[in-house]
Amino acid sequence: MKIIEAADYRGMSRKAANIISAQVILNQRSVLGLATGSTPIGVYEQLIEWYRKGDIDFLGVQTVNLDEYCGLGADHPQSYQYYMHTYFFDHVNIQEKNIHIPNGLARDITAECADYDRTISLLGGIDLQLLGLGNDGHIGFNEPNGSFNKTTHRVALKEETISANARFFDDPKGVPRYAMTMGIKSIMQAKKILMVVSGTGKADILDQALFGPVTPLIPASILQLHPDVTVVADEGALSQIRTHGLI
Ligand code: F6R
Repeated sequence: MKIIEAADYRGMSRKAANIISAQVILNQRSVLGLATGSTPIGVYEQLIEWYRKGDIDFLGVQTVNLDEYCGLGADHPQSYQYYMHTYFFDHVNIQEKNIHIPNGLARDITAECADYDRTISLLGGIDLQLLGLGNDGHIGFNEPNGSFNKTTHRVALKEETISANARFFDDPKGVPRYAMTMGIKSIMQAKKILMVVSGTGKADILDQALFGPVTPLIPASILQLHPDVTVVADEGALSQIRTHGLI
């Protein structure tokens, strides 16, 4: 595992964008696994800037996203489809047909998850998977104490997540209670993994994930067993690891 330190959020975003950029320059037909959340927004902004300058081209790139809420379509501002278009896809020359995100409006979730796995496999697998790190060590929607052996599947959201999301919905009945996520097995099958982490709030969980025991209690700890992981983190996120003298 490589750990790359950046001074701050902007530096983290630029370094991670450089790694994605190199991947796409080396293979114009790369399959990129993408994430949502607050951490990767700066990475997408940087990639957009380089695209506008003509330094990177997404025409042949395929993307597969980690997760999506069940019940939300592309036009819902809380859906990950909407997020990806707003923060990234609408600003670069990626082809709509090359964008893959689980369909939150699918009637048969089990079939949708199986189709998603098939899509990833038909694309030849994920070349580079971008990940954020949840406060409790989750990756995708793989929460603590889940199985390490799942591919794309439906998860029941935790009550805290449901209540935290409620503020974004006019009708409480519209708050998603389920999501679809690539499983730990799908993530581990990616050829390369790039995790971005920012801020002191993640310092403890990052330390546990990278240097603690590999355990389903900290889903991201499984990444210790992947042969090609790069973690790009800022000073705040690495502060606890640094006090142990581990970097
Ligand atoms: C999003 C995702 C989540 C986030 C994680 C961290 O697609 O898969 O696992 O990466 O919740 O979110 P932020 O970056 O908002 O702290």
